[in-house]
Amino acid sequence: MTDIQRGRGVSRLAASRFLLTAAAVMALAPWALVMAVRAQSQAQDPGVRGGPADAGSFFSNLTTDQKDVEGTITSTFTEINSVTGTGNGGTGNSGLGPRFNFNSCNGCHAQPAVGGAAPFTNGFFSVFDLDGALNEMPSFESEAGVMVNARFPQVLSGNSYSIPAGFTQELFTITGRSDAGSCVLLQPDFAGGQSAGDLIFRTPTPMFGDGLMEIIPETQLQANQANQCANVNLTGICGVPNLAPDTTISRFGWKAQERSALMFSSAAYNVEEGVSTAAFPDELDDSNPACILNGVPEDHFNFINPSPHRFPGDPERQSLFIRFLQPPTPAPPNFTTIAGQNEFNSIGCNICHTSPSPTQFTTPQSAISALSAQNVNIFSDLLLHHMGNCLADGVVQGLAQGDMFRTAPLWGVGQRIFFLHDGRTSNIVQAVEDHSDQWCTNGAGMTGYQNSEADGVVAAFNALSTANQQDLIDFLRSL
Ligand code: HEC
Ligand code: HEC
Repeated sequence: MTDIQRGRGVSRLAASRFLLTAAAVMALAPWALVMAVRAQSQAQDPGVRGGPADAGSFFSNLTTDQKDVEGTITSTFTEINSVTGTGNGGTGNSGLGPRFNFNSCNGCHAQPAVGGAAPFTNGFFSVFDLDGALNEMPSFESEAGVMVNARFPQVLSGNSYSIPAGFTQELFTITGRSDAGSCVLLQPDFAGGQSAGDLIFRTPTPMFGDGLMEIIPETQLQANQANQCANVNLTGICGVPNLAPDTTISRFGWKAQERSALMFSSAAYNVEEGVSTAAFPDELDDSNPACILNGVPEDHFNFINPSPHRFPGDPERQSLFIRFLQPPTPAPPNFTTIAGQNEFNSIGCNICHTSPSPTQFTTPQSAISALSAQNVNIFSDLLLHHMGNCLADGVVQGLAQGDMFRTAPLWGVGQRIFFLHDGRTSNIVQAVEDHSDQWCTNGAGMTGYQNSEADGVVAAFNALSTANQQDLIDFLRSL
């Protein structure tokens, strides 16, 4: 029996158990139904799991040649970029701006280790006025709050500078920086966008294990999808993949909008830091010639003095850094977390958050042998699902509609501080409730989208005893 066949059998079982749970709720007296509709989980989030980071290390079985580049690729991921290489103590790394969110990759990808998600302390407060920059901090960022990127889903407000609807809108400009000459650019009108209801947020996704994620064979993802969708009449759940330009299944980002660590790194270098690259070779905003202080692309192959190991450019190093990162290590299972995982599977969380059992994704042979034939315990089908008005952000990316998101991988979620695409909560119980409009704890959300595919599963979660809910939450925090 292949893993996939086995997966199909157990998933049906999960689906029928889910039905039983839903049927049990429906069969009760009307008052019980009302109670079930109203009752929100009483389970408590124990918070960020203590102990070591359990993430952020490279695979230990890299070859000697691969280990040899670890220092180079780490320093590229953590390097601080200034505009012309002279600011901030003269780091030598140039290309920042004219618009940017941050000056290094690890500033946003930091928890619980370099390569992770948003840290406890909002790093934007250390860069917005660095080297004399004249930026104002947008009101939605706070020092102890989540670091978020901003997008205008519709560009409703009369912004002085606006990019097409839905794309990342950089928070800051280099105006005023000691290394930015006479560059003058205005920050976008975030307050206007916010008051017009045209502003949404995205928080960083972690990248531990992404080297495995990017090479899960298409056939495994498709077989899992076929199995999931075969039960749609029972579960209401049938995800679809986002597709890359080469028609393979795209996997990175909250809407699975990017295909590979390399594509994401190339885009992030320009979108987050303003560093143009070989893949995205001009400045994002070249409206003011006084702000163009370097030749393009700013990051490029150095013909005169080939950099160590002759990498063509920084995105190659950054993406190799990402590929070398091991997946997070969960805490050792105990009685509670094993019970919690059983609940997780029996109520159907695993229909989207595909779990080691019943379905296990495995990698094919990789050119990086440490990535070959690995189980990928990612807790995601990497498919897009309709998630309801509570979560919808109105942004269309590829095949992902305004209410669709990639099932968030749950590996490492035990050490995450902020949850959901906009980092709206630090409470993992609320993160679960917000899967359904019925239990949305974040106000009304958007309007007009179809019900969340997770409605039935969240109802089943809320119908569990508080003790069983607590086991499930403790299981999540063990990951
Ligand atoms: C200002 C904060 C910020 C900075 C700086 C930043 N990122 Fe990100 N990163 C994000 C956000 C936000 C997302 C999620 C984007 C989305 O899906 O909308 C993300 C997602 C990613 C992902 C996708 C991971 C996954 O599995 O989904 C990769 C890869 C990534 N970033 C690489 C980089 C690299 C490389 C750099 C440096 C060149 C970088 N990032 C700099 C905020 C940042
Ligand atoms: C229909 C598919 C689906 C089902 C069923 C589902 N989820 Fe999710 N889950 C998602 C998607 C999609 C996201 C990302 C949503 C967003 O960020 O807006 C998510 C996000 C999460 C997150 C936040 C992760 C993060 O990175 O911030 C947690 C925790 C979570 N789910 C737990 C659960 C639990 C527990 C259950 C069962 C009660 C469950 N999910 C059922 C699709 C699903």
